[in-house]
Amino acid sequence: MKDLASKLTAANQAVFEALGLDPKHADVRRSDRPDLGEFQANGALAVAKAVGKKPQEVAQSVAAGWSADELAPAPTIAGPGFLNFKVTAQALTQRAQSIADDPNAGAPPVEAPRRVIVDYGGPNVAKGMHVGHLRASIIGESVKRIYRFRGDEVWGDAHFGDWGFQMGLVITALEDELGGIEDRAKLNARLKTLTLDQLEAIYPTYAQRVKAGDIGVRDRARKATAALQGGSELHRTIWKAMHDVSMAAQKRDFVSLGVDFDLWLGESDADPLIPEMVRDLEAKGLLEEDQGARILRVAGPGETKKKRREDGTVVEVESPDPLLVVSSEGSAMYGTTDLATIVQRMRDQKPDLILYCVDQRQADHFEQVYRAAAKAGYAPREALEHIGFGTMNGPDGTPFKTRAGGVLKLQDLIGQAEEKARARLKENEIGADFSAEEFEDVAHKVAIAAIKFADLSNFRGTSYVFDLDRFMSFEGKTGPYLLYQAVRIKSVLRKADEQGLKAGPIVIEHDAERPLALALDAFDGAVRAAYDKKAPHFLAEHAHNLAQAFSGFYANCPILPSEGAVRASRLALAAATLKQLVVTLDLLGIDVPERM
Ligand code: ARG
Repeated sequence: MKDLASKLTAANQAVFEALGLDPKHADVRRSDRPDLGEFQANGALAVAKAVGKKPQEVAQSVAAGWSADELAPAPTIAGPGFLNFKVTAQALTQRAQSIADDPNAGAPPVEAPRRVIVDYGGPNVAKGMHVGHLRASIIGESVKRIYRFRGDEVWGDAHFGDWGFQMGLVITALEDELGGIEDRAKLNARLKTLTLDQLEAIYPTYAQRVKAGDIGVRDRARKATAALQGGSELHRTIWKAMHDVSMAAQKRDFVSLGVDFDLWLGESDADPLIPEMVRDLEAKGLLEEDQGARILRVAGPGETKKKRREDGTVVEVESPDPLLVVSSEGSAMYGTTDLATIVQRMRDQKPDLILYCVDQRQADHFEQVYRAAAKAGYAPREALEHIGFGTMNGPDGTPFKTRAGGVLKLQDLIGQAEEKARARLKENEIGADFSAEEFEDVAHKVAIAAIKFADLSNFRGTSYVFDLDRFMSFEGKTGPYLLYQAVRIKSVLRKADEQGLKAGPIVIEHDAERPLALALDAFDGAVRAAYDKKAPHFLAEHAHNLAQAFSGFYANCPILPSEGAVRASRLALAAATLKQLVVTLDLLGIDVPERM
């Protein structure tokens, strides 16, 4: 069953057509002036000129020609010719009942399901997960769930950063520590005791040395990278140990964040496809020699940008930059593995669409890769889409760091949030009677809800300031507030059940029931917007509107103290609200506890 805005639009289109007006201006949507009407249509203003009439006159003829009275009586006219609609109680009743009966809570699946890969998370081996991977994981998980909910076949892929220069760098560090890696017994003994903490300490130290201009380390790391990619068994053994240690820790972090992948593949998994891919690109005449490296040009004719050279002169260069496919050392680069991964995915999952949920700052990289893939005929350009996002910032407005200036580990961030959640629960006198285990479970859920909701309530492109105190509040637009509302409905329904009270047919009568029915109706539109724009914040917004609508309803329409058919209807309305709220939160990756 369609949402009310679609039905009103269809009816309004029929009126427009009958009056010889262009029906594409007949759109009806939820009103931003609820005092004037529940729905509004502004099209009379747009079409008036074309028919040489005043908008007011056009609006009057539309109102006079309105015939869908079972849906809404004729619209009223406001201002210069705005049409305002108030739907009938009968239309609201039917809609609310259909949502109550629908396992999808009122949002039907897509008509033509697609095969979709969501590439997200993207942690790197030898580097622990830090807050930088938080947004990629939270947004990607939600996008994956939204696509799956609408009926697409979806694979989430973590795409581990486990290939390339950083691996050579850590191997070089190990070489220094052991005074060489040739002594196998010594090496194996060391690899057995390797921990993620050690890797995390080694990596930045060596990355810093290269950054500070240590050419010796840089060249050795490049050689080690080339040796690894060239198939050296010794280098592969070290790589494997680092890979396994990192992966185990990262899987644990993902579990605690409620993020789950269908494919745990990494850059290294695409490596076997690279030699053949390079031969193919070569055969297609797409590669060019450039200072010993091989590049693939992706800029079209006339696509240039100004670039300042080191000597200060400004030159016009092609834009986007060419994709570096093979470095002068013969190594595969970040773009190479991404291109080969497209070949791999097209072979294995045959997706219609691949969504890359990665920091906005990598936009140029993806543009290069996508154009290269299209040029080589590996995937059509429109099958590849970068879902970029802004950064999570500290109070100073720059990307979040710890007080000591370092990057905060994901596990520590979750720990801090749990700590705060426990304190807030105690302040609010929640859970005093829970077992220690249940209390911990609720605190964890509140912590994750706070972190995720704060992230997803902004449009993904927007950066936001990390403020745990605000995220953890039980009031306002927060994750904990929404959990609290959901749990409150659960508790009403549980009491009804204990008293043997049953839900019945929904009848929308009371004025305070209308906004709740309208909020339920809006879920479909929110899901479609989130899906089409790959933007979970539409659902975060919906969850909050729904919870508030329920609050207003519950304050004015007693449920348990009412009687008979009214009580049965209100119980059904409460159950439908809970179902839709839980589904919405689940699409955001948020779990609701049984009680709190
Ligand atoms: N590992 C990368 C990073 O930390 C993110 C990977 C994103 N996905 C991709 N297909 N490149 O920046």
